[in-house]
Amino acid sequence: MRLIFLGPPGVGKGTQAQRLSETHKVPKISTGDILREAVQKNTSLGAKAKSFIDAGMLVPDDVVIEMVREGLKEPDCQKGYIMDGFPRTIEQAEALEKMLKETGSIIQQVLNFQLSDEELVRRLSGRRSCPHCQTVYNLAFHPPKQEGACDQCKSLLVQRSDDEPQTILKRLEVYQRQTRPLISYYEGQKLLININAVGSVEDVFERVVSAVQKGKMG
Ligand code: AP5
Repeated sequence: MRLIFLGPPGVGKGTQAQRLSETHKVPKISTGDILREAVQKNTSLGAKAKSFIDAGMLVPDDVVIEMVREGLKEPDCQKGYIMDGFPRTIEQAEALEKMLKETGSIIQQVLNFQLSDEELVRRLSGRRSCPHCQTVYNLAFHPPKQEGACDQCKSLLVQRSDDEPQTILKRLEVYQRQTRPLISYYEGQKLLININAVGSVEDVFERVVSAVQKGKMG
């Protein structure tokens, strides 16, 4: 299984990638998670990425492409992976294609998650996450059992720095300008499958599994 999860910020890519990764035992490569961990650990990658993330902008292509190149070399990625949040620009997509050609592999499906801007803003505004075990919650849709604390490890939940209202709007604008063109790019390659992201996490997950199964058969 070699999949790309594409879609605007807050559509639920990360949530669905995590589920599919757990149920189908496939690793996920989430560029957002890798970058946030680097920021948290204050590495040189984190120092490079922080100002872009906080401003709602994309981290430069060369930095992210190199990160993914390293990720793909991991032994657990040799049989498959779910890419969550990469590629995000045409340049990244072309670089990925080149990397895969070198190893003789291909992307099998690109799942394109779709949701209205209004709902995206609601999901992003309510998101809280655990800085310790990374579990993601939503105050409106999936709140923790005890207010402000992680169900798994009891750490204090935090709001992502890029989930502030102004930064959310910037990220949506950046998505339209830099990432949306990937829809036609992958449509042209006959890899794109649209996923309706309306409804509960379970509803959307059923659509994801069904799309992946159809992809395997076709
Ligand atoms: P990244 O972390 O990738 O952010 P994103 O793509 O903007 O996506 P999000 O994580 O905000 O949303 P999501 O679709 O994963 O939704 P989630 O499942 O969390 O990137 C962050 C930054 O890093 C970028 O802005 C950029 O600076 C940099 N970056 C990352 N990749 C890069 C790249 N390739 N190139 C350059 N820069 C890059 O869900 C959102 C909320 O909704 C949660 O609270 C969740 O609980 C809830 N939810 C999920 N599904 C449902 C549902 N069905 N119903 C109700 N609530 C739901």
